[in-house]
Amino acid sequence: MDAPIQCLFRRATRDTEIGGVAVPSGTIVQLMWGGANRDPAIFENSDGFDPARPNARRHVAFSFGPHVCVGNQLARGELRIGFNLLLRRMKNFRLLKEPEYFSHPFAYGVTALHVGFEHAA
Ligand code: HEM
Repeated sequence: MDAPIQCLFRRATRDTEIGGVAVPSGTIVQLMWGGANRDPAIFENSDGFDPARPNARRHVAFSFGPHVCVGNQLARGELRIGFNLLLRRMKNFRLLKEPEYFSHPFAYGVTALHVGFEHAA
């Protein structure tokens, strides 16, 4: 939902077309992964947080193709370990107030995430 890298760039190596728009060779194209992850043509309730949606794996936060993030398995592994530990020790996570985000042309993330929880039994 909140792709840490919102976008990067490619240079077209030949004349092509994207979504009906002509892209001449040499054009710099900005790829918006953040937007693609909320594409209503791909995801039902695309602005809602739904980790159980059947096509959740179609997100492109790690990009795809020849330049797919080479660290994606490490990042996924770290998250899996971290969430497993958190969920073992804490329960009933809830937002106490809206998250605060930093502003950057390409990157995206929270500077403050105020979360309430109880100790798991
Ligand atoms: C949540 C964590 C991460 C996210 C969201 C992320 C996302 C991305 C994205 C969007 C790209 C651009 C791919 C493209 O241009 O198509 C990328 C490239 C890359 N990432 Fe990550 N990344 C993460 C963690 C990591 C880690 C942990 C490593 C290394 C240990 C890593 C190493 C790289 C490298 C080397 C590339 C360049 C790949 C290339 O251009 O061929 N990333 N990443």
